[in-house]
Amino acid sequence: MLIRDHFQNFKTYQLPKAQLIIADVPYNLGNNAYASNPAWYKDGDNTNGESELAGKSFFDTDTDFRPAEFMHFCSTMLKAEKKNIKVEGEARQKGDAPCMVLFCAFDQQMYFIELAKKYGLNNYINLVFRKNFSAQVLKANMKIVGNCEYGLVLYRDKLPKFRNNGKMIFNCIDWPRDNESEKIHPTQKPVKLLETIIEIFTDEGDVVIDPVAGSGSSLIAAENLGRKAHGFEIKKDFHIKATKWIEENKLKRSEIKELGYAKTEISKNNPILF
Ligand SMILES: C[S@@+](CC[C@H](N)C(=O)[O-])C[C@H]1O[C@@H](n2cnc3c(N)ncnc32)[C@H](O)[C@@H]1O
Repeated sequence: MLIRDHFQNFKTYQLPKAQLIIADVPYNLGNNAYASNPAWYKDGDNTNGESELAGKSFFDTDTDFRPAEFMHFCSTMLKAEKKNIKVEGEARQKGDAPCMVLFCAFDQQMYFIELAKKYGLNNYINLVFRKNFSAQVLKANMKIVGNCEYGLVLYRDKLPKFRNNGKMIFNCIDWPRDNESEKIHPTQKPVKLLETIIEIFTDEGDVVIDPVAGSGSSLIAAENLGRKAHGFEIKKDFHIKATKWIEENKLKRSEIKELGYAKTEISKNNPILF
C-alpha cells in the first residue's frame, strides 16, 4: 500500500512494525541536482551554454526533507528486538532483529551514522553499489563522477535477520541495470537490486516499509517476494504513477500464478492474441 502523505503523519495510518525499512533519502543536492548530468547544458553539450536545469534541485521536497524526523520514524516503526531466550543445546541464537537500509550520498554517510545512534541504531555497515556504467559526466566535461552508489545498513544492538542461504554476502554489491521497469522517478532504484536486499534481511510475510517511496520500486520488489509492503510518497505525480505500477504488477503476478503467463501485459503488445 502506497500512501500519499508525508511519512511524518504515519501515526494516522496504524501501519504494522517493519522487519526492514528501506529508504532512498533525498540527497539534499539543493541547487546542484543536475551537476553530474549533461542536462545541465543545452542538448547536453557545454559549448551550447547552460540549460534551464542548471543550478536547479530535482524537487522542492529535497530541501524540505528533515533527517531527524526521518530517523525518528525509522526507530519508531522498526520492530522491537526480542529478548534473549536461552535454548538448550543451541550455542548461539540466530538473530532476527530488524534493520534499515539507507541509500545515501557518499558524504551523507557519517552524518546518518551519527544521527542513527541518537535514535538507538548503534550499529552499521556501509554498502557500496558498483555500477558497470556511469553518468555521462565526462561527455559533458563538467566534473569527475565515480561509478558507485552508497548506502548503510543500520541496526540496534542485536544482529539483524540475515538470510544468506550459506552464501557469502559482500557489502560491495553489483548494481544491475533495470531495463524492464518503466522510468517513473529520476533516482529510481533497480527492482532486482531491491529484491536482493529484501531477500537478505527478511522472510516471506515480513513487513517492509519505505517512507520515501518515489516510483514505488521497493514496494514492487517486496511484493514480488511475498513481503507485506507499505510506503509513503508525498508528490502527487509520483504517487499516481507508482500506484498504477504497483497495481499492474499485482495483476501480472496474479495472472502468472493463475494462468502461467501475464495475459494483460502480453495482450497490450499483441492485442490480436486474445
Ligand atoms: C530519492 S527519492 C526515492 C526514489 C525511490 N527510491 C525510487 O526507486 O523510485 C525520494 C522521494 O521521497 C519523497 N519525499 C521527500 N520527503 C518526503 C516526506 N516527508 N514524506 C514522503 N515522501 C517524501 C520525494 O518526493 C521523492 O520522490
